[in-house]
Amino acid sequence: MALRRLLSAGLDRRASSSTRAIATSAMQCVTASTSTSASSSARDDDVASRFANVPFERVRNFSIIAHVDHGKSTLADRLLELTGAIQRDGSNKQVLDTLPVERRRGITVKAQAVSILHREPSDGEEYLLNLIDTPGHADFSFEVSRSLSACDGAVMLVDATQGVEAQTIATFYLALDRNLAIVPVANKVDMVSADVDRVAKQMERAFGIERDEVLEVSGKTGLNAESVLSAVVQRVAHPSGEPNAPLRALLLDCHYDDYRGAVNIVQVVDGTLKKGDKITSCASGQHFEVLDLGVNTPSPLATNTLRAGQVGYMITNVRDVRSSRVGDTLHTKGDTVEPLSGFRAAKPMVFQGLFPINSDDFEKLRAAVSKLTLNDASVTSQPENSTALGAGFRCGFLGLLHADVFHQRLQEEFGAEIIATAPTVPYRIKHHGEEKFVDCTSPLVIPSGGFPSKGTIIEEPLVEATIICQPHVVGKVVELCMDRRGEQLEQNFLDDSRVILRYRLPLGEVAADFSDELKSRSSGYATFDYEDAGMSQSDIVRMDVLVNGTVVDALATLVHRSKAQRHGKDLVARLKDALPRQLYEVAIQAALGGKIIARETLSAMRKNVTAKCYGGDISRKKKLLEKQKEGKRRMRRIGNVDIPNETFAGILSNK
Ligand code: GTP
Repeated sequence: MALRRLLSAGLDRRASSSTRAIATSAMQCVTASTSTSASSSARDDDVASRFANVPFERVRNFSIIAHVDHGKSTLADRLLELTGAIQRDGSNKQVLDTLPVERRRGITVKAQAVSILHREPSDGEEYLLNLIDTPGHADFSFEVSRSLSACDGAVMLVDATQGVEAQTIATFYLALDRNLAIVPVANKVDMVSADVDRVAKQMERAFGIERDEVLEVSGKTGLNAESVLSAVVQRVAHPSGEPNAPLRALLLDCHYDDYRGAVNIVQVVDGTLKKGDKITSCASGQHFEVLDLGVNTPSPLATNTLRAGQVGYMITNVRDVRSSRVGDTLHTKGDTVEPLSGFRAAKPMVFQGLFPINSDDFEKLRAAVSKLTLNDASVTSQPENSTALGAGFRCGFLGLLHADVFHQRLQEEFGAEIIATAPTVPYRIKHHGEEKFVDCTSPLVIPSGGFPSKGTIIEEPLVEATIICQPHVVGKVVELCMDRRGEQLEQNFLDDSRVILRYRLPLGEVAADFSDELKSRSSGYATFDYEDAGMSQSDIVRMDVLVNGTVVDALATLVHRSKAQRHGKDLVARLKDALPRQLYEVAIQAALGGKIIARETLSAMRKNVTAKCYGGDISRKKKLLEKQKEGKRRMRRIGNVDIPNETFAGILSNK
């Protein structure tokens, strides 16, 4: 704009000669920059047409699967550098970790898809490789399974200094279930402690992989990284769709961009998707117009066409991410097609109530939650009311880490201070006389004291967990799994220093602190991962906490009956420690359907806020009383007891 103003000033006949001189030089700048941008746009057009014209047989869709921290994002960076998608500047950029929290915490939260062009030395041809990066934390195993459904092969990365871990095994089986070709890689071979032979033997024993199939790579130095690209080309099959059939595209993911609105990540399975196409969603019947279409390289590059097998972004005339249902099949308007199967929609596995610490901040929280859920379609939210905490939201997350990241983003990006209630897994409940099960994601759905009523059936979600540990801690790990109501499925030696255990466990028992407990029992060496294993009937009850005889609904939890007493005792003891003493005695109780199962008593104390004010100065006294009033605003009155909101936050976060 400034340049344009300067130019018009220069063209003004009334302008002075010096102004004209400046304008002339500015015009020269504009001409130079126009020619630079013209040449860069010509280059972009050339690259875009190379992407768009790669034949179907030379497309590969693959993913990198690995245990957390085995170097997935680092290797992905090297692959992008090798193919010229990003510049090498010596730093570990981790381009795929786009959220600030992802970069800082070194975790991948959302799956990303990047398209790269690779000229394969063995045949001199150009291939289009779509790298679908999957989250690497056990918390997101459901996400990994979703991302793998869009691939034909997987690079299985194992840290050669660590060996095969639980997540390697769990994701290997997910990949095998989907008939994916596996490219085994021993990573971090630049490190002195790397033992490739040991890792190769473990892979042979666990997966039947031959020693000479294993590539020896360093994602950090880039050593042999190009062999990974060649192996993907040679060992992974091209997509199995029909290039000439009517359009069928799978919606893999969706996120919100401030400038572009809803950005859909789609995989074209059959046919061709073109800019300007009118398409229809199989799930909702809603029609969209394709406004922009291209590939992420990783920066978006408009190709205006996506052919069968290709993965890219699609912008439609609908800006709201909530209209995009992940897992949906899209087809040309007016066509009738069979929806694609085998891809599951994102499924929240942990639910929490989120309330503002200061009840006056509800509107601020509402705005923040709606902005963030726009950005992350895998978070669900609906309004919830609590007598203790006021108005808030019940949000569903992929796992506890995902919830944690969401809380952190609420705080950092929107300054929202929140109280999060205890996490609940998605139960299913069928009341007496009813035909169907309904989802039960909050203890507040169940009436206090009246549960479980006769004839009510509750089902809880189960997982199949893989644990790898050293032989001398097996006893402690088995004890932990039994305590968490686990059923052993398998116990085997991976080699003489590692044992694989497989257990069926309730998700509610592993979602919270299982991983921490496992680490502490194994001095940090055991690793664990899990996958969905359906639902099973269970004796789940609502446990209440009462303060001076009044139910504190924010502290209600759903627990297995056998665990209720232990959980109740622990909760009332923590509440007793956290609650400020009152002017009278306070009873803190845990109850199950009206029956008290644990109790603590908080003894009385007299508190005079003006006692600190030694003299008789009335203004000082007033100031202290004002301060006390402000404090009260941050408290909830329950059963005649003032409970500071920070106490709730502390109790609920287990601190
Ligand atoms: P998530 O994003 O949580 O899934 O982890 P990740 O598997 O992507 O691991 P990441 O690439 O973040 O690497 C974890 C750590 O290992 C980082 O500190 C990397 O710098 C380091 N690292 C990765 N590859 C290599 C390697 O080949 N050699 C060495 N020495 N270090 C590596």
